Amino acid sequence: MAKREQWASRTAFFLAATGSAIGLGNIWRFPYICFKYGGGAFLIPYLVALFSAGIPLMILEFSLGHKYQLSAPLALAKVHKNLEWLGWFALLVAFGIVAYYTVIMGWCFNYMFHSIKLSWGENTGGFFYEKFLALSKNVFTIGSIRPLIFAGLIATWIWIVLSVWKGAKTVGKVVYVTVTLPWLCLLIFVIRGLTLPGAIDGLSYYLTPNFAALKDPKVWLAAYSQVFFSLSIGFGVMIAYASFLPKKSDIVNNAFLVSLADAGTAFAGGLAVFSTLGYYAHTTGLSVPDVVKSGPSLAFITYPTIISLLPFACSFFGILFFLMLLTLGVDSAFSLVEAGTAGIIDKWKKKRIPINFAFGIAAVIAGLIFTTKAGLYWLDIVDYFMSNFGLVIVALLECIFLGYLYREKGIVALREHANSVSEIKVGKWWEICIKVVTPIALIILLVLTVIERIKGAYENYPRLAEFLGGWLILIAFFVVAIILNRVRSKGG
Ligand code: PFF
Repeated sequence: MAKREQWASRTAFFLAATGSAIGLGNIWRFPYICFKYGGGAFLIPYLVALFSAGIPLMILEFSLGHKYQLSAPLALAKVHKNLEWLGWFALLVAFGIVAYYTVIMGWCFNYMFHSIKLSWGENTGGFFYEKFLALSKNVFTIGSIRPLIFAGLIATWIWIVLSVWKGAKTVGKVVYVTVTLPWLCLLIFVIRGLTLPGAIDGLSYYLTPNFAALKDPKVWLAAYSQVFFSLSIGFGVMIAYASFLPKKSDIVNNAFLVSLADAGTAFAGGLAVFSTLGYYAHTTGLSVPDVVKSGPSLAFITYPTIISLLPFACSFFGILFFLMLLTLGVDSAFSLVEAGTAGIIDKWKKKRIPINFAFGIAAVIAGLIFTTKAGLYWLDIVDYFMSNFGLVIVALLECIFLGYLYREKGIVALREHANSVSEIKVGKWWEICIKVVTPIALIILLVLTVIERIKGAYENYPRLAEFLGGWLILIAFFVVAIILNRVRSKGG
């Protein structure tokens, strides 16, 4: 059998896993969620979720990939042959995510160029929705493809395919730049933010704890879902990345380091964003809660406004901001690709480069819908379903299958494996987290989300759109995953 590809060094692995975890989620999602759910007090449920569920699952996924030296589907198949489908399901969800994640990166490319002349003008919202996206009236008025967004998407994919060209070998080199560069940019933004007038007001909104919020179960659930998405758990990525580690590599240590690096970056992201929002409120006379917006609007509407208001070097900071988003996003995106191609290569023993291309082309085709005039609506729906259902289902089933049904080859064998290579040993606490704490949190999360969806369609979209962009995709992924489970692998 051909020797499995490997990371060139421990640092290469650490940077690649960290690069996957740190992404757009750290810069706009974390600060906003933190503000919405209790400000400084949110850090408590966040840290509890990180240590009780995030890190234990990271250890589980690392051990699984490392022990069996295989990516998600075949590693799970080693535990039990009927589990392979779960790995494919995870990779299909990853494919669904990367299809729209790369369109957002395509927007960033465009905005980097718009930064040169600050072409968004005074009405940044109007520019984003009307000029740039040309957003249609409703979700079914698809209209045409936006050529510049499409061009941004293609540029993103060329970048990704080149970054994963020879798998771990190339990724291990690229991440030295794509992880450290955004950290450097972030540092500049934290310093820039903190030295602007009004910064303190922004920070006090971000960090003043509202302890009453801790009584609300929603706050705890928000913390758990933020931790899962942010750590890239439940997508098969960490399993594949750990499978490229040499036999003697520390698992537990790495899981802690990657997770803490991710959490630290999210916290710094909050400092940068809130100090700048404080400045924005200060200059416009608005209050801080008024200027806090969620989702894409923060990066593409609020931030451009702030960039235009900066006292000097506006274009420089504009370019730097979108470059930061691009480099933050690209290693998350290519980790999703790497997880998928590694799965295909393990199963069919195919050559890597044609698969990389095929994957890229398939994802561009799948992503076309998001480049149309109705693209933002579809992006919103698919994003919601992939991260709130896809991820949660995978993580929950991992806990149940590995923790209970196939525990001998699952949690028992994995604990033994992790302890045989790691400096820090995992004990009973780890089993309790995987078998009790995490599944309970995930089941509550899932049940509440399902109830909400039964009560009404997500964001009041037409039920048909919700079905096509959400449920149908999940069902199709499930069916395809089951079929792939039945196909025999080459040589196996
Ligand atoms: N963890 C990334 C973020 O916080 O933006 C997003 C992500 C990347 C999720 C890769 C899942 C994944 F496999």
